[in-house]
Amino acid sequence: MEKVLVTSALIYANGKVHVGHLAGAYLPADIYTRYLRLRGVDVIHISGTDEHGVPITLAAEKAGVSPGEYVDRYYQIIKETFDRLGILFDHFSRTSRPLHHKLAQDFFLKLYEKGFIEKKKTCQFYCPSCKRFLPDRYVEGECPYCGYEEARGDQCERCGRWLEPELLKNPRCKVCGSAPHLRETEHFYFMLNKFQQRLEEWIDKNTHWKENVRNSARGWLKEGLRPRAITRDLSWGVPVPLDGYENKVLYVWFDAPIGYISATIEWAREKGDENLWKEYWKDENTKLIHFIGKDNIVFHTIFWPAMLMGYGDFILPYDVPANDFLNLEGEKISTSRNWAVWGDEFVEEFHPDYLRFYLTLILPEDRDGDYRWDELQERVNQELVNSYGNFVNRTLSFIKKYMGGRIPEPGTFTADDQEAMEKMKEYAENAGKEIEKFSFRKALRTFLEASLLANRYFDYQAPWRLRKENPERCKTVLNVCANMVYDLALMSSPFIPFSSRRVEEMLGVKFERWEGVGRRNLKGGETLGEVRVLYSKIEDERIKIQKEKLGKEEGMVKIEDIEKLGLKIGKIEKVERIEGADKLYKLLVDLGNEKRTLVAGLRPYYSEEELEGKLIVVVTRLEPARIRGVESQGMLLAAESDGTVAILVPEKNVKPGAKVK
Ligand code: 2FM
Ligand code: ZN
Repeated sequence: MEKVLVTSALIYANGKVHVGHLAGAYLPADIYTRYLRLRGVDVIHISGTDEHGVPITLAAEKAGVSPGEYVDRYYQIIKETFDRLGILFDHFSRTSRPLHHKLAQDFFLKLYEKGFIEKKKTCQFYCPSCKRFLPDRYVEGECPYCGYEEARGDQCERCGRWLEPELLKNPRCKVCGSAPHLRETEHFYFMLNKFQQRLEEWIDKNTHWKENVRNSARGWLKEGLRPRAITRDLSWGVPVPLDGYENKVLYVWFDAPIGYISATIEWAREKGDENLWKEYWKDENTKLIHFIGKDNIVFHTIFWPAMLMGYGDFILPYDVPANDFLNLEGEKISTSRNWAVWGDEFVEEFHPDYLRFYLTLILPEDRDGDYRWDELQERVNQELVNSYGNFVNRTLSFIKKYMGGRIPEPGTFTADDQEAMEKMKEYAENAGKEIEKFSFRKALRTFLEASLLANRYFDYQAPWRLRKENPERCKTVLNVCANMVYDLALMSSPFIPFSSRRVEEMLGVKFERWEGVGRRNLKGGETLGEVRVLYSKIEDERIKIQKEKLGKEEGMVKIEDIEKLGLKIGKIEKVERIEGADKLYKLLVDLGNEKRTLVAGLRPYYSEEELEGKLIVVVTRLEPARIRGVESQGMLLAAESDGTVAILVPEKNVKPGAKVK
């Protein structure tokens, strides 16, 4: 039997899953796998987290935890989010596992022995203040091609060109901002140039690839492949398996794709069939399909295939359906600015199929896409809730109410009935063909046309009228409708699986084969399960809340928030003790245009004389509070450490009332 190995990019374990990730690789991969499974194809979907590399070490450093702790945390979050969104994997592994380390080292050694990896002395940026060599992504600067000022040492995010840190203009260390200088060091290089011809021939043959993917690959080949450094001076990653190089690790893009294989090996082991993975990686009849985002194209069409060619014994990717990027409300998704819609937060608020549905409609298959909350609301309400959801609901509640909850047996089918059911079959065939071409948007549109047809049939046949006028005919019509509910739910199950599951429960069936669409599966007499509405409309208010969250980082304050405090310089004019409170002083403070009374717990730390005449920082927009009978009309800023308290004072003489900013 034909075998298909579907992989989706190993996601960096340095953040949560957002809609850009989902639209780029995971949702299409999931739809594709679910579809093939319904077609009876032997398919597995393999993925996991990419836990090495500079993005991880940088993020862990920033969070003040070890890389290991950091990735542990995100592995769990990521896995759970995929789960809640119905992104199914046969195995979801991690590149920090020992099995993966071993396999990556084996790849390195084999390629080294075969002369595809060579050692070279080179010059590399060294940061004098951090006192270390800087791996590519630790260097930022101006892109030599497009002038983008925040280009990374490995790639320019704006023009997409592959870079080397030395090519950047005005380079700076990403951690401390200093200008690094070049110093001599030694690294291992993957001799990509040795694969130039084989890759060219191979890419030429892959005429079935998407145009953009093939063109990008050709572009890189045209520039001419050069050896590429595959080791880094980091302590986190897969150690170089050669004596004397213990302080270096493999470049993350060298080890990550090997993760596809190690994860498959793990999967086979867990299935209790040690060698099963080979059927997916070593059999020429297996189709290996990598779902990725477009920033990963070069690695999956050039770098990784070259590694596989060099190693030998493995099949090469059959297809690399890479998607473009997804924007959000017209702007680039940005994790650091929290300009993102997070998968885990979405499912807290809405039905997961709402996201799957909308994202499929806007998948960036041949151009960048744009996620808009208003559009999500409109399309979900109009096309999912009002059209498909409504058809399911009106059909099943009618049967529940007037047919005693049993699907009626039909009489003779009319030409209209035959045609409606025939049409369902046609729609499914067309949708299937689109999925096979990775045109998921079109496939879903086809399903929506089918829902429209079903609703039209219902309206036209008007069972509510037939019920009284022609009860026999009414039964036939409802049988046709119930079968169309079955067909639609089956046809849409790769896209909106949670909804289809609910329909299965209501119909008391289990979808098995895609080919089942349009085959009149419900003969009549079947009892319905509990009938409940599939969806509810999304109200404006809920969308408004989501839009307001954009760009606001949780737990972070904005400049405006700081301004709200009304921080000003005050001058302490008078200090008095408060009767019966041995820690407090009552201060009279001059704020330029007004005087205020403040109560402060400074007695253990300052004498009256020390305080009098001092300039301090006052929070002026604070609700007044009564402390020991005295109204305190603000608060002064002080720092506490090692059991003592120090008030904050301006470093130069400024006027009382001066704004603190
Ligand atoms: O771009 C990324 O998110 C990478 N972590 C993808 C790796 S894909 C594979 F090669 F592992
Ligand atoms: Zn530095």
